[in-house]
Amino acid sequence: MKSCLLPKCRLTRLLAWLQIVLGGLVVVVSLSTLFTFYRAGFPIHHEDICRHVYGVKETAAATALNDQPRFDVLSLSNRIGEVLNKLDRLQQKLEFKVKQMEKNDKNSSISTLEYKKYLEDEIVRPLYAAHIDLRQIRLPKLDGDGPNATLNEDPLINTFIVEEIRKYITPKESRVGKVNIYGTDRVYNAIGHGCVRYKKELEEYMDYDIGSYCKDDWDLAQRLMINGCDPVPRRRCLARASKTYQRPLPINESLWKVPEDRNVRWSRYACRNFKCLNATNAKRGYSKCSGCFDMEKERLKWVAAAAPNGSLAVDFSIDDVIAIKPGEIRIGLDFGIGTGTFAARMREHNVTVISTALNLGAPFSEVIALRGLVPLYVTLNQRLPFFDNTMDMIHTAGFLDGWIDLLLMDFILFDWDRVLRPGGLLWVDRFFCKRKDLDDYMYMFLQFRYKKRKWSVYPKSKDEVYLSAVLEKPPRAI
Ligand SMILES: *[C@@H]1O[C@H](CO)[C@@H](O)[C@H](O)[C@H]1NC(C)=O
Ligand SMILES: *[C@@H]1O[C@H](CO)[C@@H](O)[C@H](O)[C@H]1NC(C)=O
Ligand SMILES: *[C@@H]1O[C@H](CO)[C@@H](O)[C@H](O)[C@H]1NC(C)=O
Ligand SMILES: *[C@@H]1O[C@H](CO)[C@@H](O)[C@H](O)[C@H]1NC(C)=O
Ligand SMILES: *[C@@H]1O[C@H](CO)[C@@H](O)[C@H](O)[C@H]1NC(C)=O
Ligand SMILES: *[C@@H]1O[C@H](CO)[C@@H](O)[C@H](O)[C@H]1NC(C)=O
Repeated sequence: MKSCLLPKCRLTRLLAWLQIVLGGLVVVVSLSTLFTFYRAGFPIHHEDICRHVYGVKETAAATALNDQPRFDVLSLSNRIGEVLNKLDRLQQKLEFKVKQMEKNDKNSSISTLEYKKYLEDEIVRPLYAAHIDLRQIRLPKLDGDGPNATLNEDPLINTFIVEEIRKYITPKESRVGKVNIYGTDRVYNAIGHGCVRYKKELEEYMDYDIGSYCKDDWDLAQRLMINGCDPVPRRRCLARASKTYQRPLPINESLWKVPEDRNVRWSRYACRNFKCLNATNAKRGYSKCSGCFDMEKERLKWVAAAAPNGSLAVDFSIDDVIAIKPGEIRIGLDFGIGTGTFAARMREHNVTVISTALNLGAPFSEVIALRGLVPLYVTLNQRLPFFDNTMDMIHTAGFLDGWIDLLLMDFILFDWDRVLRPGGLLWVDRFFCKRKDLDDYMYMFLQFRYKKRKWSVYPKSKDEVYLSAVLEKPPRAI
């Protein structure tokens, strides 16, 4: 290092020292934590440590069952390992750079700008990342002191082994003051209990490098959601986007146009473009809402004048339904599967409608959003994310059919009733079922004693019938 008179080299050396000091700090912090911990006389046994560090798998259940909360040694050691790795990588980078600088010594005319960039990208940022990592180490929280001190930890955490899940569900305390904006002193990230059933998939989902790009696995997340692991945890990786994303069409054009293929990521679908989704081949990947990528057909829906004899008596027009309560229908929810045409039509009537959308075989969410409408990515498993008595209208089509279990339907309808405001409309559109089941389903819809504003039963085939209804929620004076 004969060339270390140069300022840049001195700087590098200084930084190298800095990180060695930082590394030492980590070790001191962790050792002192462990020390205080043992001094507190916490009843941790050797086999417990071994279990945490080595034979984790086979004792996981035992750990979960054991309701004595215990200090999370594994988490701490992993975290420290992570920080040390980061510092190690930084050190290697710095050493490499120093060598490179020595080599290029004679030509050393690096501009200040390059210097600044190098410092920012290669040193300041990793150092800061290590700093954040240090802050995030979960230290054990002791209640009381002396030999009677106990650890205060949520027992559910020990059900899971993958570190990122454990970090996710650890209650996060407020950093400033006592209570946060919600009036609680900590935030619990919830994960659905169904996640335990899909532990392997969930662990796969949460297996990523923090801060880097996520795997191409939105379909895994959707599978978890549909199977009851709902809500799925948030992740700290960057979601992928279409490489060729163009800005969407302006609103005066987007509403009735199939979006451009390149604004969608197609890798997880049977079809690779909208033309294929529009075609009638059986392998296109979705079976519900046939023709819903054909805007010419979509334009005819819920418009009485446009389809004089194409429309059945079960198809009410939007004009007729809105005329039940002129000016009163302003916001609503469309619960179904589709490309948002109902919301598009309602928008033209100055009504804001949110459309539920799961990407079941086709990019429904993206299409709705690219048309300039709001897709709501929720499953059937979930309570609707709206408060009581808020919606003017709930419209449902193409989704509630004769397949639905009566108890499940009961929960769904009660939830819709909760969300609908007094005087709001429930529009059941082309519900179909076996003729012999019709009485059951009619009972379900009528149990709330809504006012029948429109009601129509129409044969679909020999033993199936359509039911369409517009029902008005009565006032609840209690
Ligand atoms: C130094 O730079 C000159 C041109 O700027 C180049 O020709 C020469 O090869 C460089 N020397 C080294 C050791 O990089
Ligand atoms: C610890 O607990 C025992 C019994 O539970 C009690 O007798 C003792 O006074 C406690 N010690 C302290 C320091 O609180
Ligand atoms: C949409 O609006 C833009 C700007 O307001 C206008 O230039 C364009 O011609 C409109 N397109 C159509 C199809 O009306
Ligand atoms: C969709 O298919 C229909 C016929 O099935 C055709 O008339 C229409 O032009 C197609 N739309 C697009 C955007 O390809
Ligand atoms: C619709 O009605 C017109 C005349 O009213 C008739 O010519 C046409 O065949 C009908 N279309 C269908 C699909 O029934
Ligand atoms: C929607 O609102 C616009 C602007 O306020 C108005 O010009 C238009 O007539 C309204 N459309 C309907 C169907 O009420």
